[in-house]
Amino acid sequence: MAKIIDGKAISAEIRAEIKAEVEQRIARGECRPGLAVIIVGEDPASQVYVRNKKKGCEEVGFYSEVYELPAETKQEELNALIDKLNADNKIHGILCQLPLPKHLDENEVILRIDSKKDVDAFHPYNVGKIMIGDYDFLPCTPAGVMALLERSGIEVAGKECVVVGRSNIVGKPQAMLLLHANGTVTVCHSRTKNLAEVCRRADILVAAIGKADFFGADMVKEGAVVIDVGMNRRADGKLTGDVNFAEVEPKASYITPVPGGVGPMTITMLLKNTLTASKK
Ligand code: GUN
Repeated sequence: MAKIIDGKAISAEIRAEIKAEVEQRIARGECRPGLAVIIVGEDPASQVYVRNKKKGCEEVGFYSEVYELPAETKQEELNALIDKLNADNKIHGILCQLPLPKHLDENEVILRIDSKKDVDAFHPYNVGKIMIGDYDFLPCTPAGVMALLERSGIEVAGKECVVVGRSNIVGKPQAMLLLHANGTVTVCHSRTKNLAEVCRRADILVAAIGKADFFGADMVKEGAVVIDVGMNRRADGKLTGDVNFAEVEPKASYITPVPGGVGPMTITMLLKNTLTASKK
């Protein structure tokens, strides 16, 4: 029987720490951290994320602004808003919710946000800093995974870590953070041969491919730590991870549930990055 890593509880613990730090900073006459969130169009999933980001800000005492722009917004209009927010002293973090409507260029947006306000850690400058292990901002999902491991007392140093998925947002930075924590890291992807065999070597397995219930008991070593980054919607509308929880849980030593594992940590790490930005 695995220990369930409770992302909701760990997230609440970290948010309470952020809130206390904000209160201390305000009491000392320092600035209130401010986050601006931009959403273009009406994608329902993105609207939920943005709402939760605003709620997260309120919970820890941050100042926040949400810009809901119509789907037809032009690149120049979006750029002008980013320029305005880059110059705004009340705003320490800027996040433009992705994906953007097809006519807008995500790379242009990522490059335009001031790297000092890039609380997603998507700007190439911050990506480069992560690569060399000298970072201010941690990418939110991988940072959430590291915080879950740390707060569950799971040592990474010397462990075989297998990350499945190589996206710029999760897989690649996740591999870097595990490497910085002295794990021995393997990154797998759609062209990996003998995937199950590689996964069975893992002391720590991070599943981030976006395929519901893909990882079965045959892909997990007895006693492994299993971190499920997947967030997939089943045909019946239920949220499910990349890991077949019922099969894998009896074999694992620790496992994250979906929902309630990595998911709640992502916004908490965004709040942490915003606090960091406000101190600079
Ligand atoms: N869309 C889904 N996840 C994210 C995220 O972490 N940041 C941004 N900006 N957009 C997203």
